[in-house]
Amino acid sequence: MKLLVVYYSMYGHIYEMAQSIKAGAESVEGVQVELRRIPETLSQDVLEKMGAVETLHKQQGVPVCTIEELGQADAIIFGTPTRFGNMCGQMKQFLDATGKLWMSGALVGKAGSVFTSSNTQHGGQESTILSFHILLLHQGMVVVGLPYTFHGQMEINEISGCSPYGASTVAGPDGSRSPNKNELAGAYFQGEHVAKIAKKLAG
Ligand SMILES: Cc1cc2nc3c(=O)[nH]c(=O)nc-3n(C[C@H](O)[C@H](O)[C@H](O)COP(=O)(O)O)c2cc1C
Repeated sequence: MKLLVVYYSMYGHIYEMAQSIKAGAESVEGVQVELRRIPETLSQDVLEKMGAVETLHKQQGVPVCTIEELGQADAIIFGTPTRFGNMCGQMKQFLDATGKLWMSGALVGKAGSVFTSSNTQHGGQESTILSFHILLLHQGMVVVGLPYTFHGQMEINEISGCSPYGASTVAGPDGSRSPNKNELAGAYFQGEHVAKIAKKLAG
């Protein structure tokens, strides 16, 4: 059973959440989990202007995902920052090259799930995840969210991401907030939940 965690992270929030997702999926016996990053599409010049060079450099050890790997996985959990209430362009560009997988039905019947991050609390986390689900459905994937059995979903005493649609973190207006314990727990839960469902789907 092979589960892929495929993500893009410009400032490290999604990267941190991805590691918790991976740990959760790995806690399920017989599931092999691999972390993959989405290829960059922006020039070095633009990345420097966006202050992204350092955090991207830290992720150099994570292999870049290939389309073939997506087809070989039994389940895929996608992580994307929110960009104007949607997935980031890097992710969209990568997934727009999956026509071959769509043609062959390579992802049909496989578990697919999404997590995200945004600067503001109501800045589009849910719309990012839900609109991402449309793509998963076009690929025939079985969409998996983050059920309320993750009790951290009820958190109201402190700022916290996570919704029934998937784990999320609030990076703060200047991006300086790191994922808190509850958000990382949500990510772990989602990883474990998807891995368990993937095993059931494999029958
Ligand atoms: C072009 C652009 C659009 C963005 N749009 C939103 C948005 O709609 N809502 C929001 O709260 N944050 C928005 N952000 C902030 C990102 O979501 C934030 O940088 C990201 O979640 C941090 O994740 P990362 O550290 O993994 O890159 C935007 C950032 C950029 C660069």
